[in-house]
Amino acid sequence: MSRLPDRERAPDGNDSRGDTGPQEMVPSRKNMVLVDGVILNGPTTDAKAGERFVEDACRLIMEEVVLKATDIREKVNVKAWDAKIPKLVPTLPPHLSFQTPIQFLLSWKAASKCGETGQDPEFHQVCEWRPPEELKRLLDLELRDAGEPHHRLLERCQDIIRYSVKTNHPRFFNQLYAGLDYYSLVARFMTEALNPSVYTYEVSPVFLLVEEAVLKKMIEFIGWKEGDGIFNPGGSVSNMYAMNLARYKYCPDIKEKGLSGLPRLILFTSAECHYSMKKSASFLGIGTENVCFVETDGRGKMIPEELEKRVQEAEKEGAAPFLVCATSGTTVLGAFDPLDEIADICERHGLWLHVDDLLKRCYSANASYLFQQDKFYDVSYDTGDKSIQCSRRPDAFKFWMAWKALGTLGLEERVNRALALSRYLVEEIKKREGFKLLMEPEYANICFWYIPPSLRQMEEGPEFWAKLHLVAPAIKERMMKKGSLMLGYQPHRGKVNFFRQVVISPQVSREDMDFLLDEIDLLGRDM
Ligand SMILES: Cc1ncc(COP(=O)(O)O)c(C=O)c1O
Repeated sequence: MSRLPDRERAPDGNDSRGDTGPQEMVPSRKNMVLVDGVILNGPTTDAKAGERFVEDACRLIMEEVVLKATDIREKVNVKAWDAKIPKLVPTLPPHLSFQTPIQFLLSWKAASKCGETGQDPEFHQVCEWRPPEELKRLLDLELRDAGEPHHRLLERCQDIIRYSVKTNHPRFFNQLYAGLDYYSLVARFMTEALNPSVYTYEVSPVFLLVEEAVLKKMIEFIGWKEGDGIFNPGGSVSNMYAMNLARYKYCPDIKEKGLSGLPRLILFTSAECHYSMKKSASFLGIGTENVCFVETDGRGKMIPEELEKRVQEAEKEGAAPFLVCATSGTTVLGAFDPLDEIADICERHGLWLHVDDLLKRCYSANASYLFQQDKFYDVSYDTGDKSIQCSRRPDAFKFWMAWKALGTLGLEERVNRALALSRYLVEEIKKREGFKLLMEPEYANICFWYIPPSLRQMEEGPEFWAKLHLVAPAIKERMMKKGSLMLGYQPHRGKVNFFRQVVISPQVSREDMDFLLDEIDLLGRDM
């Protein structure tokens, strides 16, 4: 071999073979076969270098992600870090004007200092906040002609982990997912490594059977004698499936004839529903104006009498009601719609709530290169034709692995613990000065305001609410720049910005609930 081709050289010009990354090997020139100037002999991928990279990267993931998900340091040392806060530069955000001037506990400069020096800020941060332009620079995202060597790629992995939000951190409460499930993680590693596609039994025998087993158990839990389903990449897609199936049930011709000739279809959901209902209606050509948002009670549950009234009104207007989409656990308030009463109304008006065996009829396209009916095995396992996708990830596998590891009782315990922690937090909120519940929670969503000292004596009039509206975003900014906590906030149906805490992670403890309230108070008490 005379000279390495350019692509084998690291960007710094050095021979990269001693520190191989995904560089390509030179194919064998013995009995060389050339086609269009390309040598076809031998493998071109350096498997050894690739294998070493996988090993090193897995070690990094273990150390930087998995072990840190329960890193005890962050539980004990946050207070030590807080002691340094007074030295930080105070700033006053221009959009805020409180009686007491707001002093930021930490300035951007101070927050970024730890990052610049690469020093551990003594506690494992939930996030290391950087504005987009700075982050782009830090990550060096540009894709170049030459590949990079092993050590550089590992550094990149490290940076990716460092600047990503640690959603598995015990103080990440931002959304409706959190924590680390070790068994699901391994399942995901396996499926990424095996790279299956769940459409035919011939390419995905194991994962198709796994999905069937999980669905069977879930159907059993619901209490149905039979049923069908597929795992989707999330709730929004599932809502879209439901809407499309309901429409197909209402007018099966739509599959061939499309939207032309359809009456004005109208669907009903609660005013607290997830926004994916609107997105689905728009995507499916139903139109967002044809989503009727039924009024809810004070706890966020759909009012059945209101539903029936709105269905009757739509019928009178000549529209065609076809679906009621109820919610069990609304996104913000965690409310459960009264399913029995809603089901009765659906029955009276012939609206969709549940129909078996529709997925395949609705979605099948019978692709002849995948779903041949003359295969040598039972083609009912080629379930891919029930999906709107072609390739599909084995999403059920993660769940199966966790279920196998914990057992049904273990899963139940997790739910019970999350609910007990929620109840603990609610009681703490009631006890503490400056915290106010929006309402008694029905489930694990706890919505509350933090009222800073300067507002505590103020009458709850328009000025109070206008000022309170600014508090949650300001505290959120502080917590992210400090990296101590991530919690979501939102205004909701006439209520000014409030925090929403949903206990989900199996890693959180009572101490984390205490920390949550202590930290909000610490970050907001000067407001
Ligand atoms: C009630 C409800 N439905 C649907 C969704 C959307 O789920 P996904 O984010 O998986 O699309 C959410 C997400 O929060 C939700 O709360």
